[in-house]
Amino acid sequence: MAVFYATLAVAATVLRLARAQQAPVPDNVVPFPTWKCTTSGGCVEQQTSIVVDWSYHWIHQINSSTSCTTSSGVSSTLCGTEAECYANCEIAPANYTGLGISASGSSVTMTQYVTSDGTVSNASPRTYILNPAGTEYEMLQLLGQEISFDVNVANLPCGENGALYLSEMNASGGRSQYNPAGASYGSGYCDAQCGTGTWFNGSVNTAGVGSCCNEMDLWEANSEATALTPHPCSVESVYGCTGSACGSSGVCDKDGCGFNPYALGNETYYGAGLTVDTTKTFTVTTQFVTNDGTTSGTLTEIRRIYTQNGKVIANAVASSSSGFSGDDSITEPFCTAADSVAGSLGGLTTMGEALGRGMVLVFSIWNDNGQFMNWLDSGNSGPCSSTAGNPATIEADDPGTSVTFGNIKWGDIGSTGSKPVSSSSSSSSVTKTTTTTTTTKATSTVHTTTTTAPSGPTQTHWGQCGGIGYSGPTVCASPYTCQVQNPYYSQCL
Ligand SMILES: *[C@@H]1O[C@H](CO)[C@@H](O)[C@H](O)[C@H]1NC(C)=O
Ligand SMILES: *[C@@H]1O[C@H](CO)[C@@H](O)[C@H](O)[C@H]1NC(C)=O
Ligand SMILES: *[C@@H]1O[C@H](CO)[C@@H](O)[C@H](O)[C@H]1NC(C)=O
Ligand SMILES: *[C@@H]1O[C@H](CO)[C@@H](O)[C@H](O)[C@H]1NC(C)=O
Ligand SMILES: *[C@@H]1O[C@H](CO)[C@@H](O)[C@H](O)[C@H]1NC(C)=O
Repeated sequence: MAVFYATLAVAATVLRLARAQQAPVPDNVVPFPTWKCTTSGGCVEQQTSIVVDWSYHWIHQINSSTSCTTSSGVSSTLCGTEAECYANCEIAPANYTGLGISASGSSVTMTQYVTSDGTVSNASPRTYILNPAGTEYEMLQLLGQEISFDVNVANLPCGENGALYLSEMNASGGRSQYNPAGASYGSGYCDAQCGTGTWFNGSVNTAGVGSCCNEMDLWEANSEATALTPHPCSVESVYGCTGSACGSSGVCDKDGCGFNPYALGNETYYGAGLTVDTTKTFTVTTQFVTNDGTTSGTLTEIRRIYTQNGKVIANAVASSSSGFSGDDSITEPFCTAADSVAGSLGGLTTMGEALGRGMVLVFSIWNDNGQFMNWLDSGNSGPCSSTAGNPATIEADDPGTSVTFGNIKWGDIGSTGSKPVSSSSSSSSVTKTTTTTTTTKATSTVHTTTTTAPSGPTQTHWGQCGGIGYSGPTVCASPYTCQVQNPYYSQCL
């Protein structure tokens, strides 16, 4: 496990703190409100934020510009062991604009490429939602619940993938003695592809394991095609696979049992000027229905509803020639038929258990040098040619390609369909809601007694608990106490 020191960005300059090395100073995370909703109380705003993945940060030798990472991993001299990494290296706050991430109000736009001084570079950011304290990932527990978001894919051509999904990462990002930053610097990524990277669960990946965990792809799409795909894994939280366990019939369902309207026979449902018109913003609602209607039952169905121009649009229905005739949602029989691996890994039941435990919300924009994203939008899956998704073509023709996500709301089924019509800038505020746009009721006007509870959250071991500019929890979880390291940083030890 790696402890990294950090630098503090003040305005445009980077100020190195003489005694800041015992733990990181804050990253330049982007404020990004989200809403939690109930059928009885409406939607309540919370001040969450966006953090970019750990590996998009510059990790370098303390007091030097020598990088601690190399093109193939970490420097063997500076970072041969966790302890060496801790002693030698610091992680710098990221330049979010330079990584193609910009937020405004409750929406975030991410670009594939960034142009600076006439030079185009591939940014392809991947980001996560942090809790209001900024210390851990916001864990969404969506079993028996729904989630809605607005998306604009108009600027995503063939071959691009603007994704919004859930991964069962550790809430702390693998925070430890050697990585006190953890989630606050975006560490601990994993997904159902079980990729082997430089880091595993917030630590240097000295064992070379793959990072596996349950993944629920709410949205993988561009302007031409869209897919909704559960990827269950037979393991809980982040799991380090080796050998065949990392393979296509290993611990995770890499293909997943996806719902793509075009692939299921409706070629006129999703696209420019079609039933769901991808030239304009629309709202995507996904519902995780349980056998008994509770948030602790067995996941039996994943349903999809679109809303555009105030009009609710039912999901596409699979055609008779698709082999899934009449299906308009993902059920256990659908999964078993669509994907031979899903069933052996527990299918929707397993996916539902992960949704019940809580998963991290991820946004990304990416393209695919190897297969040009053909699985999403070409051949049987969409109208794109097999070569249109070549990243070189995209970079030449659409260097400004981007995706925008916004108004992220989750809670009781039927509770997220109404738009916030007002919000305050306080850290926890109430939004009024207008008439419902989904299948069930919504409240009209909401009054709650939500406050910013001074006796609220406690900080975990190793986490920050004070310092100039810090606004997170100042009380440490027992038995730890808050100890001042320097004017900018106090830590729970
Ligand atoms: C980094 O520089 C500061 C200020 O010059 C110094 O106090 C500190 O000891 C240096 N740290 C290391 C590990 O060289
Ligand atoms: C961040 O990146 C942008 C775009 O590359 C650049 O214009 C800006 O100067 C950078 N900001 C800092 C503080 O380095
Ligand atoms: C996540 O990490 C924390 C420590 O930061 C640990 O207490 C917890 O058990 C981990 N959760 C899982 C599911 O491994
Ligand atoms: C991930 O890191 C957390 C925090 O250190 C730890 O509690 C958890 O056991 C780790 N999980 C794995 C699989 O290493
Ligand atoms: C595609 O979906 C739209 C909207 O539900 C429907 O009107 C149309 O008939 C469907 N087309 C086919 C071929 O299923």
